[in-house]
Amino acid sequence: MSKAFYITTPIYYVNDKPHIGHAYTTIACDVLARFKRLDGYEVKFLTGTDEHGQKVGKAAADKGITPLELCDANSQNFRDLAKTLGISNNDFIRTTEERHIKACQALWQRLEQAGEITIGKYAGWYAVRDEAFYDEGELTKGPNGEKIAPTGAPVEWVKEESYFFPLSKWQQPLLDFYDANPDFIAPKSRFNEIYSFVKGGLNDLSISRTAFSWGVPVPGNPKHVMYVWIDALTNYITSLGYPDESGEMATFWPKSDPVAIHVVGKDIIRFHCVYWPAFLMAAKLPLPRRVFAHGWWTVEGQKMSKSLGNAIDPNMLVEKYGLDQLRYFIMREIPFGNDGDFSEAAIAGRINSELANAFGNLAQRFLSFIGKNLEGVLPEPNAYTADDEVLLKSCHGLLDQCREAMERQAFHDVIEAIWVVVRAANGYVDVQAPWALRKTDPVRMNTVLYVLAETVRHLAILIQPFVPTSAAKMLDQLAVPETARSFGFLGEAHALKGGIKLPTPTGVFPRYGDPKAGPNPGKGA
Ligand code: MSP
Repeated sequence: MSKAFYITTPIYYVNDKPHIGHAYTTIACDVLARFKRLDGYEVKFLTGTDEHGQKVGKAAADKGITPLELCDANSQNFRDLAKTLGISNNDFIRTTEERHIKACQALWQRLEQAGEITIGKYAGWYAVRDEAFYDEGELTKGPNGEKIAPTGAPVEWVKEESYFFPLSKWQQPLLDFYDANPDFIAPKSRFNEIYSFVKGGLNDLSISRTAFSWGVPVPGNPKHVMYVWIDALTNYITSLGYPDESGEMATFWPKSDPVAIHVVGKDIIRFHCVYWPAFLMAAKLPLPRRVFAHGWWTVEGQKMSKSLGNAIDPNMLVEKYGLDQLRYFIMREIPFGNDGDFSEAAIAGRINSELANAFGNLAQRFLSFIGKNLEGVLPEPNAYTADDEVLLKSCHGLLDQCREAMERQAFHDVIEAIWVVVRAANGYVDVQAPWALRKTDPVRMNTVLYVLAETVRHLAILIQPFVPTSAAKMLDQLAVPETARSFGFLGEAHALKGGIKLPTPTGVFPRYGDPKAGPNPGKGA
């Protein structure tokens, strides 16, 4: 039976244009999904759009269109982005879909039947921009003396009939759950942040609104629509077919040994690490395995904002630098979980030094040598020297290292582990100097070329989740069949056969020219 793995992105608000922040989360999830598939897992990968709430209602009204018209147009932008980024999601959910409304209402009824929903009156502060309630004590004064939320969003006083979820009662069960599952929230700093927040006490949560109607109607009382976060969080089980608890729910949301990982930005952990597990516990449904909170990107040292107009369009980056180049850079540049800065100099630098010079050249040099001097036939190896053994051993040990880092969602560590071998292989070329051996010791030359080919085969197989198109080209050039590219084919047992004919090599990772004027290396790369 295959092992299951479920990975989700947050669902994106449709009132924003896709930017590098969205691309980041989605690419990270895609890398994980691809890695797990190559490692033999049955993977479900979900992304989508979050389409309800006051904010969307207001944005549509401002434009003079219906909320659904706005959602249709903007949801498509995120779907298109997923395509541009080469994302391998199995489902794209929209919270306006019938299946989702059905799932939300079923979850609501289940909570109601469990005595977890009561009706009362809500009076308090609400920030439409954040779709979040705030306590008086959390507010500060803005530039004009008005009250603002900790995020800087304006707040309004809301007083209306509302349904409540008794979040306060779940304080201790949540703390007990965190204690028993210290890996539920990662990285550790976010775990600590949530733990102390919950320890500080929880207020009951208003979970319906009557002031607007753009939302999922509360069953039996359609004057109320559900609070947008209860609606949004439910998407993770809607996609699995909830309320039907067989099928994908049984596989990807199992009663024990959870397999779901939610990747989110650090700004939305309270919803994912406090509300979501509390709703699930209250509904007597299983919990996901982990919420991983990544950091935020600034751009050329500045916070991205609408007013600065500096949000970076990922489509432009793909066009300018190439898709795999962007995917590599974004996962390599900052340790996953930390904040980081996006700069054009940094992406150009990594493309040239790491992809073109280090990895691209490693493959290109020996492959074109074989093409030119050996009629493209991969030579048979002879007896291995200690240097050969060391390099091959480091290739054979790579999968375990990558797996271990991937278990922690430490993408940068996976890349670094691979690059340790890239650097070792380049050092090996320098020391062995196979080009010089052609005249002096062709037998030894054959072995060196073979060891290099086998090394690049390992590197290319393992780097696939990050740079799928380029890795595929590299594997094509080594004549590795498409059916022999999963992690099960790593190691000696599936080593390349000497004597096979290799196709004519072409460069896989071109250099990027002057970042301002240079040609697009991604085109055709
Ligand atoms: N709709 C909610 C999520 C509901 S999930 C049940 C939402 N949407 S969002 O579109 O505002 O944000 C989606 C994700 O983009 C968040 O995880 C957020 O952290 C991320 N990012 C937004 N700006 C970002 C950066 N500048 N850098 C990195 N990620 C950023 O929240």
